[in-house]
Amino acid sequence: VMVMVKFTSAVPIPAPDLPDNCNSEERCCMPRPYRGKPVRQFEYDPTLPVRFRRAAHLIDEEYIAKLERGVKLQRELPDTDPRSWTNQMNLHCLYCDNGLYYPNQTWPLEVHNGWLFLPWHRMFMYFNERILAKLLDDDTFALPFWNWDNQTPEEPHANILPYFYARNKTSSLWNKNRNNCSEPPLTIDLNTEGGCTTKTPEELRIQNNRLIYTQIVTGAPTSNLFFGMPYSYGDAGATGAGTFEDNPHGTVHFWLGDPNPEKPAGPFDDMGNFGVAARDPAFYGHHVNIDRIWTIWKTLPGAQRKEPTHPDFLDAQFTFYDENADLVIVNVSQTLNRTLLRYEYEEMPAAWTTNGE
Ligand code: C2O
Repeated sequence: VMVMVKFTSAVPIPAPDLPDNCNSEERCCMPRPYRGKPVRQFEYDPTLPVRFRRAAHLIDEEYIAKLERGVKLQRELPDTDPRSWTNQMNLHCLYCDNGLYYPNQTWPLEVHNGWLFLPWHRMFMYFNERILAKLLDDDTFALPFWNWDNQTPEEPHANILPYFYARNKTSSLWNKNRNNCSEPPLTIDLNTEGGCTTKTPEELRIQNNRLIYTQIVTGAPTSNLFFGMPYSYGDAGATGAGTFEDNPHGTVHFWLGDPNPEKPAGPFDDMGNFGVAARDPAFYGHHVNIDRIWTIWKTLPGAQRKEPTHPDFLDAQFTFYDENADLVIVNVSQTLNRTLLRYEYEEMPAAWTTNGE
């Protein structure tokens, strides 16, 4: 039997024009004054120091104070500056939630629930880190990661919300729209449907380890299973999340969001709603850990634990604002080499890589 293979000439997602492709003036559009500034293609900067991203529960008071100061400065930037705290929240909103439409396209751009999820969020963290470094005037600055995948009893502070996000209402790292049951020292529930849990810390520890093992080790031996479904220009996005994006990525969002239905965007603000999730400083600690787990996944046994190689993946493009508030286009292929992006992760216990206990 002869099989006819039909080659469809799909097109990778092109770099959107921020803010011209924004769907609505009122909702998550980027400030206008930057329109018309020349857009450049992202290039690796070999002169940058290698930034060392540490586990959030292990950083000292000096490091916390620095992070706090950087975020405070970011919050103080005016609304006309695309690097401001609110505008970075809006940038995340813009890339999902029907925020961006290309001219003559039916479907909005969507970086969630598909293979763009990991590379887009890697670069969102990259530029957030560079913006903070610029504001702090310290190129060695690195974002810490919220090490929620670490369930070892020896590290009881890893799988709770890092204290500095919740310790002081006047801190720039505080956020008011959160689930009361996510307050430290309550253990994270990676299988939550939102709100409080009745499980004991020991039950949660076992459940969390098994869940990560199932989602990332046994459940995601191939790139499609891990990254999510292919997505090209003209497609409706969000056709299928990778195992990791749904859970635990999504459940960490739900666990931290306020289940109270009276919140402005509905229940689960801020972390549980795309449009406002990045208002919570813990979003960044969470997504740096997501990025870190991607790097661990690649080291797990199995020949297919690799990034997709399809040109519609590699040549897809995003537009970001860099640390100088200039527009920059990044190709997905440029997000895959962490050595050239120049950051490293502190090594932490990850029992989930070898078993479910
Ligand atoms: Cu853009 Cu954790 O979501």
